[in-house]
Amino acid sequence: MSFYLAEVPPSDAPAWVVESISALQSACEIELHGEDNSESTPALTVMYANQTDTDKYFLVALAGSALLETIPRAKSSTRSGLPEVPVEGGDMLGCAYLAFPRKDNPHLAEDGWITVDAVHRRRGIGQALWEHLLALTRTQGRTSIIGYTDHARAAEQGDPDALQPPTGTAALPLDAASSFALRCGFSLEQTEQQSSLLMPVPEDVLAGLWEAAAPLAHSYMLRGYVGPTPADLLEGVGPMFAALSSDAPTAGLDWHGESWDAERVARHDAVIAASGVMYNTVALHRATGEVVALTQIMCDHERPDRTFQWSTIVASAHRGHRLGILIKVANLRLLAEEEPRATSVQTWNAAENDHMLAINVALGFRASSLGGVWQRTLSPGSG
Ligand SMILES: CC(C)(COP(=O)(O)OP(=O)(O)OC[C@H]1O[C@@H](n2cnc3c(N)ncnc32)[C@H](O)[C@@H]1OP(=O)(O)O)[C@@H](O)C(=O)NCCC(=O)NCCS
Repeated sequence: MSFYLAEVPPSDAPAWVVESISALQSACEIELHGEDNSESTPALTVMYANQTDTDKYFLVALAGSALLETIPRAKSSTRSGLPEVPVEGGDMLGCAYLAFPRKDNPHLAEDGWITVDAVHRRRGIGQALWEHLLALTRTQGRTSIIGYTDHARAAEQGDPDALQPPTGTAALPLDAASSFALRCGFSLEQTEQQSSLLMPVPEDVLAGLWEAAAPLAHSYMLRGYVGPTPADLLEGVGPMFAALSSDAPTAGLDWHGESWDAERVARHDAVIAASGVMYNTVALHRATGEVVALTQIMCDHERPDRTFQWSTIVASAHRGHRLGILIKVANLRLLAEEEPRATSVQTWNAAENDHMLAINVALGFRASSLGGVWQRTLSPGSG
């Protein structure tokens, strides 16, 4: 089948395009994991439309020919130089995403991924999408690309083709995704462990963990909230997001920490609220508003059964006092109260993040699938 590539406009993306991207992601999740952990269509629409801190690109492969399908309606120019997706609809065969941070990490193209419809694989669609992402990266003058792959399971013990990350943690199998990433010139830098927790967590488990941790936290105030950050904590939450961006293990990735202030936290919260997604947050703070620990669980009311553990961070001076487990216990209680339809919490952690993984195991999380974090470097000025 012939295909052509097109760009999705960030604002007013035609509904059929976002629905098709969402459907492709869902199909791929079910193919790999037997369950769908992808973002809902409304969340995807709002996240893509928000380009304040990052230039985001969705490129798609559509059946047919650009000349026939898009030229009559195409805008004179898109950011990528590809035709814009047609307004009325089409048959989506594949999709690619890449983001270019504007403020932090100006050398980086990040969050890259490519998905091709299972019935249209091995026909060069993935390769064509990749070549355009690479061209975009060069045009933007970026020198590293970070991309992600998803794998149902780790490589078997003794598998001679297994791909071991330099961190020495769980190895990936040489499957379609990793073969494709290698072919595109990426090296595996890190693996990410996906873990799942069944909700609700039995209260005796939570109570035992809470009782062991609470005495160490007597000098802080515990605050749980649903939705945007309360005004009096905005200043304190900024440094926590900055610490998360620099302190979580990043192996050999060419990633530098981000700067977050109160204004950026509020902006981020506004985008989340508009997307129909809700964060349940627990923060430990001092009376001054200084936040020392924070954890968030994301709920999407379109798909209330599956929830996602998001940021968890304890400020460096306060680590080693069980504050991490304390805030997670409090947030699981908050989640059970606020979203009783939740049946699971999913989380992803760097496979070498022993401290976070130990807390998750204590809470009852069990390992499920594995992700690959890959990097491709480009020499400056290379085309
Ligand atoms: C990985 C994926 C995007 C590849 O898309 P595709 O359109 O089938 O890839 P292409 O036909 O362009 O293949 C390009 C090259 O990648 C490698 N490759 C792709 N699929 C492969 C497979 N199943 N086994 C081994 N090598 C493979 C080959 O080197 C191939 O070149 P060749 O066909 O000349 O041998 C597709 O399998 C997919 O969508 N998988 C699920 C989502 C995913 O894992 N995405 C990966 C990274 S984000």
